[in-house]
Amino acid sequence: MDPYLNEWLNLVIRFAHLITGIAWIGASFYFVWLDNHLQTPPQEKAEKGIGGDLWAIHGGGFYEVAKYKLAPPKIPSTLHWFKWEAYTTWITGFLLLSLMFYLGAETYLIDKRVADLTQLQAVLLGIGSIVIGVGIYEVLVRTKLRSHGIILGIILLLVGTALSYGLTQIFSARGAYMHMGAIIGTIMAGNVFFGIMPSQRALVKAVEAGTAPDPAYGLNAKVRSTHNTYTTLPILFIMISNHYPMTFNHSANWLVLMAIVLITAAVRQYFVLRHFGKQKPLILVASVLATIVLACAIAPRSIDLTTEQQQQVVTDKQVSQIIEQRCNSCHSEKPSDAVFTIAPTGLVFSNIATIKQWAPRIKARVIDAKDMPFMNKTGMTSQERGQLARWLAKVDQK
Ligand code: HEC
Repeated sequence: MDPYLNEWLNLVIRFAHLITGIAWIGASFYFVWLDNHLQTPPQEKAEKGIGGDLWAIHGGGFYEVAKYKLAPPKIPSTLHWFKWEAYTTWITGFLLLSLMFYLGAETYLIDKRVADLTQLQAVLLGIGSIVIGVGIYEVLVRTKLRSHGIILGIILLLVGTALSYGLTQIFSARGAYMHMGAIIGTIMAGNVFFGIMPSQRALVKAVEAGTAPDPAYGLNAKVRSTHNTYTTLPILFIMISNHYPMTFNHSANWLVLMAIVLITAAVRQYFVLRHFGKQKPLILVASVLATIVLACAIAPRSIDLTTEQQQQVVTDKQVSQIIEQRCNSCHSEKPSDAVFTIAPTGLVFSNIATIKQWAPRIKARVIDAKDMPFMNKTGMTSQERGQLARWLAKVDQK
C-alpha cells in the first residue's frame, strides 16, 4: 500500500478507536461510580419501586437519577443500552490491528531474530492466539468456577502468563504486547456480547411478560462485568505500551507485562473499594512501591568497560559514520528502507548537531532499551553500541 495512504488510514482508524474507547470506558466508569453513590430514596420515590436515588449537577443543569430496585412497571419506549461503545471499540481496534500488524506484518509483527515467519504464518498465528485466548476464557467463565471468583482469577492470571510468554516467543516484542491487548480487548467486548447483553435482554423480556428473570443470567453478567472492571487499566497500559520500549523490549518482557497487569488491576481495586466507602490506601502505596521495584528491576545495566576501552576516544566522525550506516536508511530526508519511506516521527539525523540534539533520546532507544535500530534491521553490532554509549556519555557531561 502507498505509505502516505497507509498513514492516513492509520490516523483515521486510530482516532476512531481512541474516541470509541473513551466512550466505552467513560460510560463504564460512570455507571460503576453511579451504582456506588446511590442513596436511599425519599418515601414517594420508594413507593414507586425506586431503590437508589442520586442528584448531580453538570454542564449547567440538574440531573435526577433513579435506579429501580427490580424494574419499572412498564418498559419505556426509549431505553438506552450502551452497547455500541463496546462493539465499535472492538471493530476499530481490530481494523487497526489488521492494518498495522497483519498488512504490515513484515514490519511490525515478524521479528526474524525471534521467529522466521512468513506473513501468512504470522497472521494465522496472530488470529489463532486471539481465538485460543478468548476460547479458553469463554470455556472457563461458563463452568462452575464462575461462582469462585478468586480461584477463577488466579487461573486466568496463569493462563495470561502462559499466553504472554508464548506470544513473546513467536512475535516481535511490540506485536506480542499488542496481541495480549487484542486478546483482553476481545474478551471484554465478548463479555458485553455474550454475558451482559443477554442478561439485559432477559430482564426486559421478564418485565414485559410480568415474570421474574432467571437469576443465572444475573450471575453471568455480574462475573463478566467484574472481569471487565479489572481489565480496564491493564488494557489501557498495553495500548500505550508501544511508546515505552523499556517495558516491551526487556529480555523478560512477558513477566514485565504481567507485573504491570497486576499492579494496574490492584489500582482499580482501590477505586472499586473506595466507591463502597472502604478506604484502603495501602493498596495504592503497595502499587506505587511495586512500580518503583519494577522500574529498578528492569533498569538498563551500564556496559562494563575495561580501562583501556574507557580511554579510547570516540570521535564525532566515527559516530556520524555509525549513524549514517545504521540509522539513516530510515532516519534521513530520503530513506532507502523499503517500508519506512518517510523518516519515522520526522526524525532525520542530517548532521552531528542533530545527533547531539537528540542524544538523550538516542541513548534511551539505542543504549538502554536497545529497540533502535528498528528490530536491528541494519545489523548494528554491540561494539558500535559500546562506542556510541561512550560518546553519548561524553556529550552528556558537556
Ligand atoms: C528500519 C528503520 C529504522 C532504523 C534503521 C532506525 N530507526 Fe529509529 N525509528 C524507526 C521507527 C519506525 C520509529 C518510530 C516508532 C517508534 O518510536 O518506535 C523510530 C523512532 C526513533 C526514535 C524516537 C523518536 C522520538 O520521537 O522520540 C529515536 C530516538 C530513533 N528512532 C533513533 C534511531 C537511531 C539512533 C538509529 C540508528 C542507531 C535508528 N533509530 C535506526 C525506524 C528506524
